[in-house]
Amino acid sequence: MLEGASKNLGCGQVTEKTPQRLEHHARLSVAPMMDWTDRHCRYLHRRMSKHALLYTEMVTAPAVIHGDRERLLGFNETEHPVAVQLGGSDPKQLAEAARIAEDYGYDEINLNCGCPSDRVQSGSFGAILMETPALVAECCAQLIAAVDVPVTVKCRIGVDDQEPTEVLPDFLARVSSAGVGRFTIHARKAWLQGLSPKENRDIPPLDYPLVHEMKAVFPHLHLSINGGIESLDQAEPFLDALDGVMIGRAAYHTPSDILLDADRRIFGGRVGPTAEEVVMEMLPYIDQHLGAGGKLHHVTRHMLGLFQGRPGARMWRRYLSENAHKDGAGCDVVETALGFVTQQAA
Ligand SMILES: Cc1cc2nc3c(=O)[nH]c(=O)nc-3n(C[C@H](O)[C@H](O)[C@H](O)COP(=O)(O)O)c2cc1C
Repeated sequence: MLEGASKNLGCGQVTEKTPQRLEHHARLSVAPMMDWTDRHCRYLHRRMSKHALLYTEMVTAPAVIHGDRERLLGFNETEHPVAVQLGGSDPKQLAEAARIAEDYGYDEINLNCGCPSDRVQSGSFGAILMETPALVAECCAQLIAAVDVPVTVKCRIGVDDQEPTEVLPDFLARVSSAGVGRFTIHARKAWLQGLSPKENRDIPPLDYPLVHEMKAVFPHLHLSINGGIESLDQAEPFLDALDGVMIGRAAYHTPSDILLDADRRIFGGRVGPTAEEVVMEMLPYIDQHLGAGGKLHHVTRHMLGLFQGRPGARMWRRYLSENAHKDGAGCDVVETALGFVTQQAA
């Protein structure tokens, strides 16, 4: 679907798409993270940055086709620009899932070629796809034929004993020939034997220079770098040479440090809100969620890091952690927790 157009989402909503090009939003993105970047998390992050590109958790193509679509794909229209990340390696299934996601209103379809978990490997997708670039190219060709929104790929620099300096340029060449113009490269290998997914985010060494080399070889591609970037100070210099920076764990654990000033520093936009203002903006959303039968902690678990590093942060975190899961817990719990921070500031 063309950016800037309106679309009926098939769930009764009509949304205005962002007029700016997605490439611009991809200068800073929040990484797809299973169990973390759910719709509540993305709603929070969007309150903090109007411009950063947000990604869903990975959803597998069969789940999209056969599962509870509203639970897997439903999102708030204010989350735009938002990309759905698909997992899969069957081109036809991926194409069908992508069509469904596009109808839901997603701005981008991203293919996961980086996830190392056993479950994902046994389904032969995720990072193991680094071994079959021709299949990835075929998947992407079918995705591109199926949807009008951009199709992008998130990959590693290689897996196991592959040689990244050979594998990565070959992967980018083949997949870009299928029509993909934008990639996010998690700048470390995935070791598919012997490391847990968590270890696979820390132990294989980062190779940022290789991503820079790829930009020199493929100057026409939009390349975002990912892995181990913990602050905007660290992110900004990458943008001198590369097209985008994707941040995962730091954006989740310390969202205020990464996102509150991102619109000004990364996108040349306005100064963002304060963390306190963000909390106040979350209250009507929380009320709505509770009214629909949801639990407070579904939302507040993503808000624990909002005041990280500030006086009162520990009490904010502790009060929410101890109280938000209780039956009947409502916005008053959040307001009381906020009081611990504002008292310290006064
Ligand atoms: C809890 C968690 C879940 C993740 N789930 C996914 C996922 O669903 N898809 C994906 O491509 N990467 C996933 N990742 C990897 C991140 O997208 C990112 O590549 C990785 O954390 C490195 O970036 P960082 O150092 O900025 O966190 C996950 C990471 C974490 C911490």
